[in-house]
Amino acid sequence: MKAPFLILCLLALSFQACYYDKLNELHPNNPDPCDTTLAATFDQSIVLIMKDNCVSCHSGSNPSGGILLGTYQQVADYSTNPKFLKSIRHESGASAMPPNSKIRDCEINKIDLWIQNGVPEK
Ligand code: HEC
Repeated sequence: MKAPFLILCLLALSFQACYYDKLNELHPNNPDPCDTTLAATFDQSIVLIMKDNCVSCHSGSNPSGGILLGTYQQVADYSTNPKFLKSIRHESGASAMPPNSKIRDCEINKIDLWIQNGVPEK
């Protein structure tokens, strides 16, 4: 009786993983931050990347590494720290972020462009 239950749990878990991996395909209305029609501003693109990949650990009363990335002001403030882009690019000199994966190159390029443009909000 226990084994089938375990298999069911594992199945449920794997479907959940698929759900998150394919979030944008499942929900076409959920904007893709790499969409070139979305400007490299916080409100149009960067907030989507942060919410999908960073905010779960970097917000709240006890954020990972003491770094808050939940609001425009918090991300804009931290973006001047060279560790921000280094960690996202998985370069040496900073811990790779997110810790167990890497965001897409098109997302990294949007963040880079956003910083070069002076971190516009809208
Ligand atoms: C699963 C939780 C988790 C996620 C998701 C996550 N981080 Fe982190 N982050 C941490 C922890 C824990 C630390 C502190 C320990 C360390 O530096 O490895 C940290 C540290 C950092 C640091 C400091 C690195 C250093 O070398 O001092 C930066 C910058 C950072 N995170 C940015 C991000 C960004 C940007 C994202 C999204 C692309 C992100 N993190 C996603 C957990 C996370």
